[in-house]
Amino acid sequence: GKTGVAIIGSGPSGLLLGHLLRAAGIECVIIERQAPDYVLGRIRAGVLETVTTDLLRQLGIDQRMNAEGLIEDGFNLADGEQLIRIDIRKLTGKHVTVYGQTEVTRDLMEAAPARGLEIVCEAKDVALHDLESDAPSVTYLKDGVEHRLHAEFIAGCDGFHGASRKSIPAAKVREFERVYPFGWLGILADVPPCHSELIYSNSDRGFALASMRSSTRSRYYIQVPLTERIEDWPEERLWDELALRFDPISQHKVVRGPALEMSIAPLRSYVFETMRHGRLFLAGDAAHIVPPTGAKGLNLAASDVLYLSEALIAHFASADEHALLAYEKRALARIWKAERFSWSLTKLMHRFPEDGAFERRMQIAELDYLAGSTAMQTAIAENYVGLPL
Ligand code: FAD
Ligand code: DHB
Repeated sequence: GKTGVAIIGSGPSGLLLGHLLRAAGIECVIIERQAPDYVLGRIRAGVLETVTTDLLRQLGIDQRMNAEGLIEDGFNLADGEQLIRIDIRKLTGKHVTVYGQTEVTRDLMEAAPARGLEIVCEAKDVALHDLESDAPSVTYLKDGVEHRLHAEFIAGCDGFHGASRKSIPAAKVREFERVYPFGWLGILADVPPCHSELIYSNSDRGFALASMRSSTRSRYYIQVPLTERIEDWPEERLWDELALRFDPISQHKVVRGPALEMSIAPLRSYVFETMRHGRLFLAGDAAHIVPPTGAKGLNLAASDVLYLSEALIAHFASADEHALLAYEKRALARIWKAERFSWSLTKLMHRFPEDGAFERRMQIAELDYLAGSTAMQTAIAENYVGLPL
């Protein structure tokens, strides 16, 4: 077959890009390794910037988000005892929306058929070819049969472990990485949240996050050493730990309930600056990872894809190469600032094994300074709601 843009991956990046291109009348096909249920089963991001919600509104895929998303005018940082409210509405005029990645993905998938967005699922052995020619292609196995899809461009939206980034030759690679010595253990449960707004807490026992999906569904995370396995954490042990970290600072005691999901995610900062190679363009987690503190990953994927869609649309409309040439630089400018914010909030809010009593005092002093400084609260708030496009 032949199409305009072959999109690898049906996570938030690939689905959003597909819809933006279809809305401009551009032919595209999404090729996804997994079955839809797998993609929909991943509990990940929860907090959306207005950049992301505006994009969904522009596409008209916003009915359920408008009905079920929670508008958040503030969030909280804590040192384990003192709760510091960051009034993002007052400080920036903006808000964020709590609406899960699972729901965003479901809405985008359900809207696909009516908009002529084809998604090929369960495509195995996806490989990219002839990226430096003007006739690139993608091959994959589906039901044991090999297929080849020719395209004018390929969009690598296949996440951190995908095939796209790996098909860029080593000599072209510019990459930067920081791995953290801990992960986040998360739990999702149908219990009311312990607080009306998110709390990011750096307690003496380590980092913990109280988040939510609705007034009846909670999402919590705690920092755990990388050596820890999920088997080490029976549900009751995790609830005990959450009670110790949140009961002193939240509005209500942590309510326990059966886990709908529990998992450990490692923390990493990563930027692969070579976002363009010939006819291949990378977007989202395929090109960068942020540690989840600050909730930037999905939102960065959305801004990448917005930039890339504008560049591809300009090319198809008027053979204007200028925007395609500018994509990498434009995307990286926003990516590095989000990397900086996620890295600095991670350092401020976690206990690092190499840190001693002095570093702990520094964290507490910084949080105490933040509590009394509108300037610093504004700096955090404007990053949290998302920097301008
Ligand atoms: P992915 O979601 O990884 O999608 C990639 C897709 O490509 C997948 O469907 C995969 O199956 C497919 N694929 C992979 N390899 C291949 C292949 N070889 N061939 C074909 N298809 C392939 N972000 C936020 O903004 N806010 C948050 O609050 C937040 N919280 C998070 C909490 C956790 C615990 C985690 C783990 C992440 C969080 N993130 C958050 C980050 C966010 O989930 C990611 O940034 C986001 O999923 C990136 O979307 P993507 O489409 O680029 O990649
Ligand atoms: C959630 C995840 C985050 O990384 C974050 O910063 C805030 C909320 C969540 O899953 O709800």
